[in-house]
Amino acid sequence: MGGHIPTLDDLGDVRGKRVLVRTDFNVPMENGAITDDFRIRAALPTINWLTEHGATVVTASHLGRPKGAPNPKYSMDAVRARLAELAPGVELLENLRFDPGEEGNDPAFVARLVDGIDAYVDDAFGAAHRAHASIVGPPQTLPSAMGLLLQKEVEVLLGLRNDPKHPFVAVLGGAKISDKLGVVEALLGVVDSLVVGGAMCFTFLAAQGHRIGDSLFEPDQVDTCRRLLSGATEQGKTIHLPDDIVGVDADGNYATFGNELPDGAKGFDIGPGTAAAFSDVIMDARTVFWNGPMGMFEDDRFAAGTRTVAQAMADTKAFTVVGGGDSAAALAQFGLDDDVDHVSTGGGASLELLELGDLPGLEALRKAPNA
Ligand code: 3PG
Ligand code: MG
Repeated sequence: MGGHIPTLDDLGDVRGKRVLVRTDFNVPMENGAITDDFRIRAALPTINWLTEHGATVVTASHLGRPKGAPNPKYSMDAVRARLAELAPGVELLENLRFDPGEEGNDPAFVARLVDGIDAYVDDAFGAAHRAHASIVGPPQTLPSAMGLLLQKEVEVLLGLRNDPKHPFVAVLGGAKISDKLGVVEALLGVVDSLVVGGAMCFTFLAAQGHRIGDSLFEPDQVDTCRRLLSGATEQGKTIHLPDDIVGVDADGNYATFGNELPDGAKGFDIGPGTAAAFSDVIMDARTVFWNGPMGMFEDDRFAAGTRTVAQAMADTKAFTVVGGGDSAAALAQFGLDDDVDHVSTGGGASLELLELGDLPGLEALRKAPNA
C-alpha cells in the first residue's frame, strides 16, 4: 500500500507534450442528453492545469457498459459537446469500452492508446477500482500522475478510513446489502455507529426477527446480517435501524407502519420517526459518510426519508462526505450538493477505497517509471 503516487508536479515540464488524461465521464444520460455534468466539471481543474502548463490534452473515458462493441447509444458525442463548452480545444477519444481490449486489459489496446502520447494522468476516480487497460496500462511505460480530482478523493476517503474525528457515523442505504458487505465489515472497525436505511434495512430487520411483509430483501444474507449485528454489539458499536417504515399496504395504498409490516405490505422509505432519529445521529457526529438513498426517492411519496437525511448532512457541523451515485443525485435533486464538505465522484470506487485502503488505479501509478 505504501509508496509514492506521483502528482502533476512529478511529470516535469509538460510544455508541448501530448498528455492522455483518463477521466470518468460516465455521466447519467436520458434520451441522448446529459442529465448531470458533475463528473465532467470535476475533471476541469486537472485539464486546465495541464493546458495552462502548455500541454496538449487528450481525454478518454468509458460511458455505460457497451460490452466491447461500438453502440451509438453509448457514443461520447454529447459528452464531447459539453466538454467543448467547458474546455475548448480538448480532445476526447471514443468510448473506451467500444473495444473489448479496455475491460480485458489487452496490451495491444494499451499500445494503441499510448501511441503518440508523452505522459499519462489518471483523474478517473470513479473507475479507479477497475483494472482496465486505460487505468493500469499506460503507467507501465509512460511518466504518470494522479490528477487533482483523484488526489482529492484519495485524501478525503483515506482520511476517513485512517484518521476520522469521532463520533464517526456511516449512513448506508440502497437496495443490496450483498454489494456492501465488505464495506460494512470494514466500516464497523472504524465508525462509532452505522445507520442503515434503504431496501437493505429489511434484511437486517428480518435478521432481528421483525416481519417485513413483501418488502425487498435478500434471504441468503439474513445470517450475515445477524452476524454483523452481534459483531457490532461485541465491539460496542451501534447499528441504527428503522423503527417506522413508509410504503404501501396489501391493497397498494400509501401507509405508515412501525417496524412490523403486515403480510402483503411493502416498505419504500424510512418513516418520519426514523428519519428524525437518523438526523439526530448525524447532527451529533463529527464525521459522516453517506452512501445510498434511504428509500425510493425518485417517487415523491417516498422521498421524505432521503430528504431529511440529506438536510441533516447539510446542517450538521460534522465533516460530511457523500459517496457518488444515487446519494449524490439525491443531494443535487434537493439542491443541497453545495452544503456538504465532499461529494465523491465515485460510488463503487469510494466504497472499495474505504474497504481496502487501495485501488488498482493507485497501485498502477505507484509503479510508474517516474514514481
Ligand atoms: C461508475 O459510474 O460507477 C464508474 O464510472 C464505473 O463504471 P462501471 O461500474 O460500469 O465500471
Ligand atoms: Mg455542513
